[in-house]
Amino acid sequence: MNKIKACIFDLDGVIVDTAVYHYKAWKRLANELGFDFTEEDNEKLKGVSRVASLNLILQWGGLTKTDAEKEELATRKNNWYVEMINKMTPDEVLPGAKEFVESCKRAGIKTALGSASKNSGTILEKVGIAHLFDVVIDGNKVSKPKPDPEVFLKGAEELGVAPEKCVVFEDAIAGVEAAINGRMKVVGIGSREVLGKANLVISGLDKMSIEKLDDL
Ligand code: G6P
Ligand code: MG
Repeated sequence: MNKIKACIFDLDGVIVDTAVYHYKAWKRLANELGFDFTEEDNEKLKGVSRVASLNLILQWGGLTKTDAEKEELATRKNNWYVEMINKMTPDEVLPGAKEFVESCKRAGIKTALGSASKNSGTILEKVGIAHLFDVVIDGNKVSKPKPDPEVFLKGAEELGVAPEKCVVFEDAIAGVEAAINGRMKVVGIGSREVLGKANLVISGLDKMSIEKLDDL
């Protein structure tokens, strides 16, 4: 028994599936710049910050841009993305996610969000689950991207829980590594082939339970 005291959740791909909106907005930007990229390429953007995503996409299109141009492009993409997430509704919470976070609260386990997204606050409000998180650490509060553990360590610190007593839920390999780098337990959401370093891999939070936390 590890006596887990806090659960820290990534947002995109764990609580909601916003990858599709990121994809639509990045694709629109790429198309305006005269090239395209596949949904398979989009997989490589999961868990990757906005600026790093833009750099990858420009690389795929064989384009070089100045920092000022990049800033304008990232803002253009984000405006389209925000337009889409503003229309999100509570039925877009992934199966079992709300229920599991609620069961943590009932069991006296603290909850935090740990996401690279600067839009985390808007998304949580739109899907109606902002009240379920004791602490929200998002892209506005951190400077080092995953696999640096900063986002999760800040979450643990604000919750007042030692990293060893925290479990991170992550769908991206960089996020799983960030949790390990922070000396935390980690549950991978996705496939064992990709997230094999995690203590446990499940297909979604509908497969998680408080009891399983004791076996990590
Ligand atoms: C998450 C997503 C990434 C996204 C990043 C930044 O990590 O998985 O695809 O690029 O957040 O999101 P933002 O909303 O700040 O552009
Ligand atoms: Mg994610």
